[in-house]
Amino acid sequence: MMAVNFVFLATAASCMLLTFVYGQQAPIQLDNICLGCICEASSGCNQTLACDGDVCGPFRITWAFWSDAGKPTLNGEPSTNAGAYPRCANDAFCAGAIIQGYMQKFAKDCNGDKVIDCKDFARIHRLGAYGCHGGLDTKYENAFNSCLRTYG
Ligand SMILES: *[C@@H]1O[C@H](CO)[C@@H](O)[C@H](O)[C@H]1NC(C)=O
Repeated sequence: MMAVNFVFLATAASCMLLTFVYGQQAPIQLDNICLGCICEASSGCNQTLACDGDVCGPFRITWAFWSDAGKPTLNGEPSTNAGAYPRCANDAFCAGAIIQGYMQKFAKDCNGDKVIDCKDFARIHRLGAYGCHGGLDTKYENAFNSCLRTYG
């Protein structure tokens, strides 16, 4: 199940690379395993999940997170289109671009181990950039760690 999800996300990551090649500064790049494990921790990477309350898609992304990420859109539609946010957040490829976009802006060392890596990205995704040093809920943390142990 998870292997299938990773294959699905692999294409998303290569599309994103193209986007950032044309960007200015050295990009923060989350690899497929990192994206896959954040997806696993967020929802079991359930790609049939749509919007529920204020979160959408397999990464459980809020409007504010999408906005801070630079409002990526599905197939390059204008971000001002009604429904642009849920259409992107509910699509695994596009949702991966949201995570990448957010980390471009907010990547930092959350756990104080002097490197910025997937453990930090997972915290930033769950807790936001400013609270990312705080405590993760057990379910998310266990799912993430177990995924990284298996695939990382
Ligand atoms: C994925 O989410 C859908 C919609 O909530 C649910 O019906 C389905 O059981 C979930 N699948 C898994 C594998 O959890």
